[in-house]
Amino acid sequence: MRHLLEIDDLTIDELKDVLTRSAAANLEPSLAGKGAALVFEKPSARTRNSLEMAVFQLGGNGVYIQGSEVGFDVRETTEDIARTLAGYYDVVCARVFKHETLERMAATDAVPIVNLLSDQAHPMQALADILTLQQEFGDIAGKTVAYVGDPNNVWRSLSIAGGMLGVDLRLAAPAGHKPSDDDLARITAAGGDPIISDSPAAAVKGADAVYTDVWVSMGEEGDADEKKAAFSQFTVTNQVMEAADPGAIFMHCLPAHRGEEVAGEVADGPQSRIWPQAENRMHTARGLLSWLSQQ
Ligand code: CP
Ligand code: NVA
Repeated sequence: MRHLLEIDDLTIDELKDVLTRSAAANLEPSLAGKGAALVFEKPSARTRNSLEMAVFQLGGNGVYIQGSEVGFDVRETTEDIARTLAGYYDVVCARVFKHETLERMAATDAVPIVNLLSDQAHPMQALADILTLQQEFGDIAGKTVAYVGDPNNVWRSLSIAGGMLGVDLRLAAPAGHKPSDDDLARITAAGGDPIISDSPAAAVKGADAVYTDVWVSMGEEGDADEKKAAFSQFTVTNQVMEAADPGAIFMHCLPAHRGEEVAGEVADGPQSRIWPQAENRMHTARGLLSWLSQQ
């Protein structure tokens, strides 16, 4: 049984297969008569809606379930919830606070588990990010993606996916918010060789894509003051974009906080690809679920 908790749960060939399916016009309705549980412990605009539509496009039924309704380890154990949902659904997709919740559901091997964002990883976002880069540049091997900001769940999955496909990775983050050795080891194992910098201008120099995400992720609200202070010099402004390649694009997984991690004029400017990137969440969700349903 296959699960997708992080993007390197796919081989490089499988990742390419998912991306090919994501760009395909007419996929088999491989979820016809089947269901997908969509469990959310946190809010969502893109992930919930893109998954619901992707399941529909594959002929299946996506059922939205609030995390508090099933009550992981409150109403019953996480394992019992997975085993129960396995009786109704062909796949359980879940957005959770603790990555361990996904690992425990996957360990039951009762039903395939797909990570819709945890504190550790956001592999479904990485799929959309890679498709967006491919639509812009074609073959992305040797292209440079500079991530400015918090090396969080989105950064981790993007970096692993980029490493798998030969992308040159750079990160600008302040002291105290650098990636862990474990993070770097996993990216390196995937094929990446990230360059870590203190300086947004240095990290984006000549880059083909500049990426950022919120400074305060869902679940980190208690650290908001410290993180906003730490990242205050890491806003992606027009000046930062000017240090990148003249043909560079700007990317953001959204939701965006204009005036914090990105200036409004960048998010809404001509280099921004945030809307195709958001739309690609649906196409890549369809590609991933199509692939998974045929394992
Ligand atoms: N990018 C992303 O996952 O957005 P949502 O939180 O709105 O789903
Ligand atoms: N890093 C953000 C991503 C939101 C899609 C968070 O975890 O809240």
